[in-house]
Amino acid sequence: MARHLITSAIPYINGIKHLGNLVGSQLPADLYARYNRARGHEVLFLCATDEHGTPAELAAAKAGKPVAEYCAEMHAIQSELAKGFRLSFDHFGRSSSPQNHALTQHFAGKLAEAGLIREVSEKQVYSNADGRFLPDRYIEGTCPNCGYDKARGDQCENCTIQLEPTDLIDPRSAISGSTDLEVRETKHLYLRQSALKDDLDAWIDSKTDWPVLTTSIAKKWLHDGDGLKDRGITRDLDWGIPVKRGDDDWPGMEEKVFYVWFDAPIEYIACASEWAEATGGDWERWWRTDKGADDVRYTQFMGKDNVPFHTLSFPATILGSGEPWKMVDHLKSFNYLNYDGGQFSTSQGRGIFMDQALEILPADYWRWWLLSHAPENSDSEFTWENFQVSVNKDLADVLGNFVSRITKFCRSKFSEAVPEDGTYGPDEAALIDALTTRIRAYEAHMDAMEIRKSATELRAIWVAGNEYLQNTAPWTTYKSYPAKAAAQVRLGLNLIRLYAVLSAPFIPDASARMLTAMNASDATWPDDVPAALSALPGGHGFAVPDVLFAKITDEAQEDWQARFSGIRG
Ligand code: MF3
Ligand code: ZN
Repeated sequence: MARHLITSAIPYINGIKHLGNLVGSQLPADLYARYNRARGHEVLFLCATDEHGTPAELAAAKAGKPVAEYCAEMHAIQSELAKGFRLSFDHFGRSSSPQNHALTQHFAGKLAEAGLIREVSEKQVYSNADGRFLPDRYIEGTCPNCGYDKARGDQCENCTIQLEPTDLIDPRSAISGSTDLEVRETKHLYLRQSALKDDLDAWIDSKTDWPVLTTSIAKKWLHDGDGLKDRGITRDLDWGIPVKRGDDDWPGMEEKVFYVWFDAPIEYIACASEWAEATGGDWERWWRTDKGADDVRYTQFMGKDNVPFHTLSFPATILGSGEPWKMVDHLKSFNYLNYDGGQFSTSQGRGIFMDQALEILPADYWRWWLLSHAPENSDSEFTWENFQVSVNKDLADVLGNFVSRITKFCRSKFSEAVPEDGTYGPDEAALIDALTTRIRAYEAHMDAMEIRKSATELRAIWVAGNEYLQNTAPWTTYKSYPAKAAAQVRLGLNLIRLYAVLSAPFIPDASARMLTAMNASDATWPDDVPAALSALPGGHGFAVPDVLFAKITDEAQEDWQARFSGIRG
């Protein structure tokens, strides 16, 4: 039995996430957590909301609420949606928790003690009308390069040139539109990441099993241009974690908070402490290598844009502290999911959002499509046609049909109990052999977090059962050899239980219904496939379940396509 610490990148608090966000971290992390629990491993699976930063402040202002109240409400909404999608977090925390305040201030104190923090005076744009400093991307103006009039202070979207806010012609606040801007001097803390370059380099070199994509991104940031830059870890904002050195005030920093990307990954640790407080668990056993975490295998899930923060910035925080914190072992990153010829977009309300998805279909339908089309090696695209085809073929025709056909046949020719007669012969032996090979391959893909390959293998396992039924045709056998048909049906019913166990990480609700229908209390993983296919003995009662997966009609498909073609109101 191994111990798996699993975290998903923590979603921003401002707004409900779309399906592209979901498949880029939380959902595959859940798949991996469920799979490892099913294999009998000890798992701690953590996620949280990422609650600080300018976007959270602005979203609260737009909603006309105090930011703390807005965050509490949005956290509750995101938490409900996570439950709706059956995301099996052991804890869904908040980066605004007291634990994260204390731990973030603790890390800053340790980094300062280690001489890794320097104070920098810099000039920043202040908006008198907004009463606040403006982050670069909240300053708009005309691009000096191409004349585009909505260029942002960090970059022109039109010609992609990198900009400084002071390069803009006729700059204005993107929040209020005010042009009453001035440049003010302000002092900030910088983390001297450059001093940790060799340590980070050696650490990344030790990760020989990381995908090339991950290491190449990390190495690029380490060595390109001026190499790893020191980074500002404080901001002039009201909402956030107050800047302190441990418990002590930080002279000159009284009005400032830590930068959201400094405190957010620390929430991975703080979340474990929130979990411990809620459950009485021992969080240090998962996070401190001096308290037992040295035998933990830690895997992080995230979208590709998050990779630099997880391979460099957060490790710099941890290494720089000089304390024995667990560091990530494996990092699984994703490309983007596109929506019907364009991008999913939160700001533009384009695509399907988690709440809308659950309003039209149960979680399993989405989980199956999203995971079996996860954007692993390249971006992938959601289209309604493709969704309809996958659901109808894989879930309804292959898996659902198998379950309904065999249970109904048994009820009509035998009874609602596993038939007792006959013995497994060569056809059954051949199927068991083939399934054993496939199940071992499925396990290998799941262990390697090869999500699409795992889905393909699982589908092949379902297909094998259908083909077996097709070829042995118990409805024909029954006429001349009822005992043989009885054994075939017995195998078919045992396959339903086996499928429920194997499929649970992908489609937990359908799996639970299959187990209930089979009246099966044993859901242990099929290490021994022949034994697993004899688990339900002759005479064991079951019930024919309701339709597992309804097909998506052309009408519904077209209707949804039209309904989700525009932008969210
Ligand atoms: N909120 C960020 C995003 O959605 C992810 C933060 S991950 C953490 O891109 F490491 F900072 F926690
Ligand atoms: Zn431009």
